[in-house]
Amino acid sequence: MSRFWSPVVHGLSPYVPGEQPKQDGIVKLNTNENPYPPSPRVLAAIASAADRLRLYPDPRASALRETIAARYDVAPEEVFVGNGSDEILAHTFQALLKHDAPLLFPDITYSFYPVYCGLYGIRYEEVPLDAAMRAQIADYRRPCSAILLANPNAPTGIGLPRDAIGRLLAEHPDQLVVIDEAYVDFGAESAVPLVATHDNLLIVQTLSKSRALAGLRVGFAIGQRPLIEALERVKDSFNSYPLGCLAIAGAVAAIKDDAWFAETRKRIIASRESLVHALSGLGFEVLPSAANFVFARHRSHGGADLAAKLRQHGVLVRHFGKTRIKDFLRITVGTEDQCSRLVAVTSSLVAAARG
Ligand SMILES: Cc1ncc(COP(=O)(O)O)c(C=O)c1O
Repeated sequence: MSRFWSPVVHGLSPYVPGEQPKQDGIVKLNTNENPYPPSPRVLAAIASAADRLRLYPDPRASALRETIAARYDVAPEEVFVGNGSDEILAHTFQALLKHDAPLLFPDITYSFYPVYCGLYGIRYEEVPLDAAMRAQIADYRRPCSAILLANPNAPTGIGLPRDAIGRLLAEHPDQLVVIDEAYVDFGAESAVPLVATHDNLLIVQTLSKSRALAGLRVGFAIGQRPLIEALERVKDSFNSYPLGCLAIAGAVAAIKDDAWFAETRKRIIASRESLVHALSGLGFEVLPSAANFVFARHRSHGGADLAAKLRQHGVLVRHFGKTRIKDFLRITVGTEDQCSRLVAVTSSLVAAARG
């Protein structure tokens, strides 16, 4: 606290990212990173881009926008890129979500959304997920300026089918619908094919999860041109060069390596299914996940207590204090070895408590 702080800084409740431990040997299943290294082509592309470090990067990142456009069958002018999808979400809140009527998003979702509302002074209302932790389109029939859904949702992992998003768009032709598809590649249906026919749809994706590039900080948005132009206007009033030349080169190589992508996501989905099976066998209720994490609660152990005990045994998972989900753990799908370690430690904790 300082007398130099502006009133807005006094009022902020910043997002708290998951822990990034310094010590080795931790089984790190707390921030939904990909457990595998990125495509070797990414590393080669970054190495060969290094001789351009003297120069400013392309402020439009045209090579990357064209690569994404080709991959998702849209025009380059329908693509926006940024320094991680968090930055794109921040620009979206400022450029497109600040209106008189409230923004709607679920009560249980990515906890950065209310933080952006605080930063930009945006009114919002939380719409409760149903008892099964699913978003119901009918619950969004209320006055609003825009709707924001993560699909699959985080931290629940539950996906919404594309036709449900289509119904939401049809019911709200005059409201912007933003779909945060950070985890979509692990099993949900992307709404990108709906962009061509809906001027009120913006999709946000990231290379942090399914492309294993959380450290490179690259995200992108797809939407019709006026929406992309709004994001460009905010970006060019903030930072002309959000992506360095290494990030642009690496991201292009990542998007082009379809074989690495297909193989890695298949492996993570297979590990997820084994993990769900093992956790269910240990007495957990596990929500159906279309993501690279699972959200689970044990029938007789509280979430905070289990997370703390796992931590003592060198296994990090994420626990949220919000009342409705305080008994759940969000567990990232790791390598086969990491998942086995999590299951072994959990099993011994559950057995010890039983006596
Ligand atoms: C739902 C959701 N959206 C967006 C992000 C931000 O990802 P990044 O900024 O790494 O692209 C995350 C990160 O965990 C997330 O869970």
